[in-house]
Amino acid sequence: MSGLISRKISAPLSGTAKVPGDKSISHRALMLGALAVGETVVSGLLEGEDVLHTAAAMRALGAQIKKGEDGLWRIYGTGVGGLRQPGNILDMGNSGTSTRLLMGLVGGHPITAIFTGDASMSKRPMKRVTVPLEKMGARFIGETLPMTVQGTGEALPIEYRLPVVSAQVKSAILLAGLNARGRTTVIEGTPTRDHTENMLRHFGVEVLTEEMEDGAIAVSVTGHAELKACAMSVPGDPSSAAFAVVAAALSPGSEVRLPGIGMNERRTALYPTLREMGAEIAFENERIEAGEPTADLVIRGGAALKGIDVPPERVPSMIDEFPILAMAAACAEGTTRMTGLGELRVKESDRLLLVAEGLKACGVALEMGADSLTIHGTGKPPRGGARIETALDHRIAMSFLVLGAFTDEPVEIDDSTPIGTSFPMFAELMNNLGLSIEPIGKAPSS
Ligand code: S3P
Repeated sequence: MSGLISRKISAPLSGTAKVPGDKSISHRALMLGALAVGETVVSGLLEGEDVLHTAAAMRALGAQIKKGEDGLWRIYGTGVGGLRQPGNILDMGNSGTSTRLLMGLVGGHPITAIFTGDASMSKRPMKRVTVPLEKMGARFIGETLPMTVQGTGEALPIEYRLPVVSAQVKSAILLAGLNARGRTTVIEGTPTRDHTENMLRHFGVEVLTEEMEDGAIAVSVTGHAELKACAMSVPGDPSSAAFAVVAAALSPGSEVRLPGIGMNERRTALYPTLREMGAEIAFENERIEAGEPTADLVIRGGAALKGIDVPPERVPSMIDEFPILAMAAACAEGTTRMTGLGELRVKESDRLLLVAEGLKACGVALEMGADSLTIHGTGKPPRGGARIETALDHRIAMSFLVLGAFTDEPVEIDDSTPIGTSFPMFAELMNNLGLSIEPIGKAPSS
């Protein structure tokens, strides 16, 4: 394990940074490219470990995937129904998205596969996907990884109302539905990210979305679908951009530009939240790329942020941003109340607990509930001076490194390796904007 230390900065952040490709979209590009016949060409694919685990699994399932010298990824798929029996165990690493979406794909093909993952992945709940996939005819041995998935070539179409608010579960069912005998419908009471739907349409598949009487959304696909190979560019990941956005918002006098960031409205609730806290965030050059809204972000740091109540209905549209939002709240003036956070307990770590414990160790006054976090800011960054346990969670690691840029005493993280799952060049990119993140033991650069 190699740790990192983040020291207080003395000048405002400035510059332009190219944030890596969206993780959710990158996984889906590889999976859908592997189901299409012909050549799918992807630019801007995230080359983080999570996505590379998806690429390896799709190769094992029969797709050809290669990165060219031009930096583009080319995928030659098998067609829906054409995935083949893997010769080896499918290793999911730290990636919940790979695991759950691939369980849907394998579940809808006549394939038996063993899924493994790291220590964090082995603790994460899988029943949320196995229950609906069993209704479609798949069988599972085990409740957490390692698990065996026995798929079916005769998947039954189902209509399923999601009992958890989860884009991964919705996507797993839709992916299994691509090879089912008829129409599969997922009903979601609270809308979650719709990258699977957008990308299926980009591959030429008809996806119906209907609003129901109670306001829920029904998403349907018809089985034995044909995906047409296509070209696409992956926008920058808003969940990765969030670290630079918050760092810039906390740094008076800063000006940071982040071109080409995904603006899917089910991912962007961090921006209205930070704006309510007083941050200055502008969107320029708004456009649609491969079915996904994209824009350039410009963040300018000004006066101290203010604490607010974060409306719980925003949670699904900023689910991965709460650790970094908590860092902003810890530096803000007044109280920030966050509720409806139960899902944070089953992410790569128990994020609610690790954020609360880490912030307390940095001198922040807070209360944690079963699914809530209340942070009392003083208008000045907290003391810092803590070593944070990251527990194989990339977003915990990166969030506390951002906090360390503002605290009087440095903040250390015990393990930097999880950062490679989603944002391999994080420290370099943030240091280019003005942060001071170094391996522990190295003398601070002046
Ligand atoms: C993701 C969905 C979210 C999110 C995860 C990526 C996706 O998980 O937290 O990082 O790509 O579908 P849930 O579906 O469990 O909320």
